[in-house]
Amino acid sequence: MARSRGGRRFRFRFRFHRRNLCAAAAYAAVLLIALSSFFTLISLSKKDGFEDRRERVSSEEEHPSEPIPDRELWDAPFSFGLHTCVKPTAKYKAMLGARESDRYITVRSNGGLNQMRTGIADMVAVAHIVNATLVIPELDRRSFWKDTSTFSDIFDETHFIEALKGDIRVARELPKELESIPRARKHFSSWASMGYYEEMRRLWNEFQVIHVAKSDSRLANNDLPLDIQRLRCRAMYNALRFSPPIEILAKKLIERLRSREGRYIALHLRYEKDMLSFTGCTYGLTEAESKELTIMRENTSHWKVKKINSTEQRLGGNCPLTPKEVGIFLQALGYPPSTLIYIAAGEIYGGNARLSTLSSRFPNLVFKETLATKEELEGFTNHASQSAAIDYIISVESDVFVSSYSGNMARAVEGHRRFLGHRRTITPDRKGLVEVFDRLDDRLESGDLREDSLLSELVRQMHHNRQGAPRKRKGALPGLKGKARSRTEESFYENPYPECICGPKSHSKTM
Ligand SMILES: *[C@@H]1O[C@H](CO)[C@@H](O)[C@H](O)[C@H]1NC(C)=O
Ligand SMILES: *[C@@H]1O[C@H](CO)[C@@H](O)[C@H](O)[C@H]1NC(C)=O
Ligand SMILES: *[C@@H]1O[C@H](CO)[C@@H](O)[C@H](O)[C@H]1NC(C)=O
Repeated sequence: MARSRGGRRFRFRFRFHRRNLCAAAAYAAVLLIALSSFFTLISLSKKDGFEDRRERVSSEEEHPSEPIPDRELWDAPFSFGLHTCVKPTAKYKAMLGARESDRYITVRSNGGLNQMRTGIADMVAVAHIVNATLVIPELDRRSFWKDTSTFSDIFDETHFIEALKGDIRVARELPKELESIPRARKHFSSWASMGYYEEMRRLWNEFQVIHVAKSDSRLANNDLPLDIQRLRCRAMYNALRFSPPIEILAKKLIERLRSREGRYIALHLRYEKDMLSFTGCTYGLTEAESKELTIMRENTSHWKVKKINSTEQRLGGNCPLTPKEVGIFLQALGYPPSTLIYIAAGEIYGGNARLSTLSSRFPNLVFKETLATKEELEGFTNHASQSAAIDYIISVESDVFVSSYSGNMARAVEGHRRFLGHRRTITPDRKGLVEVFDRLDDRLESGDLREDSLLSELVRQMHHNRQGAPRKRKGALPGLKGKARSRTEESFYENPYPECICGPKSHSKTM
């Protein structure tokens, strides 16, 4: 689907064409044979010369030593005239005017920034289904990040209320007189269906307020009405705009990046302590570091899996790529050492010593801390979610986005980039790459590769279809049921195609 692949097909056809021309030339030569054996000799030698040249060209194609063309590194993949479509269908029951509702949903969002963001977008859809007023959600202060930010610190609250006017009513607070009455306190089922929430409407017979204790993944990815899916997109991509201070600083930093090199890669280098501890990935770490991570995991009560074999995790493709592995990967893809790379991440585990395994290959690494002044960052640095929001914006706007791990942030950014026009988004095949990396290790029996054009070709082929070109959202793995099934589906916000991305044909229907 990617344009680069189309380009290859085109080149192939072109070569084929040239071969036909050559055949014709050879045919003409055969006519000459009848005239003189002298001409025959000449024409044969010419033909041989051509064959030689062709062989050399094709062997160069197998082991390219020339730089990869810019468009294959930087341009958005071909998008077939697709465009966003978030407007409701004719069947949609809009909330005309700000109809007063005497039923309320209060929400406590859980998780980091992106988990909360997708959860809030889902709660907008839930409020619509159960016909209630949504009270501005309370944000998580207890997660690993210990951020005390409120909704309006992170999001533009007024815009959120205005943007959803036709969909649901949003209240800044629960009315005073309802604060003390009993609420239905619900842990909604994860990946719940439309039917589940329609059933929940019966709660209104007894209660005037429903409190939702957890907002993440409370709504199914698939098999929901088109209008509900589009409402999720309107909430996620239009209504949940970040607060003005965050938007302003992020824009400034993007301008600074662009004034340096014109274009940049945003790298979500998820090589932070919490992630390594949670996943049990200790490859390349010292004994002391491994121990520290194990203790942290054993000490964190809400991480349920305690015993992890790091080797098996890594071979299964379940570990974040290390900074060194990211360096090898980007180089193999063909990005030159001068490439400007913005590191969208918190504190890298192992600090500068570990980062140097990446900066030795790509010295042009920048962070918020190097782009912004101390004064500009003041007020954000102690708020992990606000810092993450700045990284999010810079990542969505980058020419290329690469993630070292498929966490909530990587998925949300990928979906947003697909939504905005399939911007180049590279998702490493971590399982495949680990095999390749182990073939580079000459201490291992498997070490039969070197960092050369063959490696480059291997890695490039492996990632041909992992660059953010349009494709429909993937369903569940076969043979699974219930929650296990939902767990393996691609998340709605990772790829809102087909519901919120439409082809040229459906244009008239949706506008
Ligand atoms: C939604 O709620 C409002 C006010 O509570 C009510 O007037 C309206 O009939 C409800 N709509 C549906 C479809 O239940
Ligand atoms: C867990 O953390 C507490 C303090 O946060 C510490 O006192 C305790 O020793 C830790 N447990 C282990 C097993 O390290
Ligand atoms: C972890 O798994 C690997 C590969 O399956 C195995 O060789 C190794 O012995 C395991 N390590 C431990 C500590 O169980």
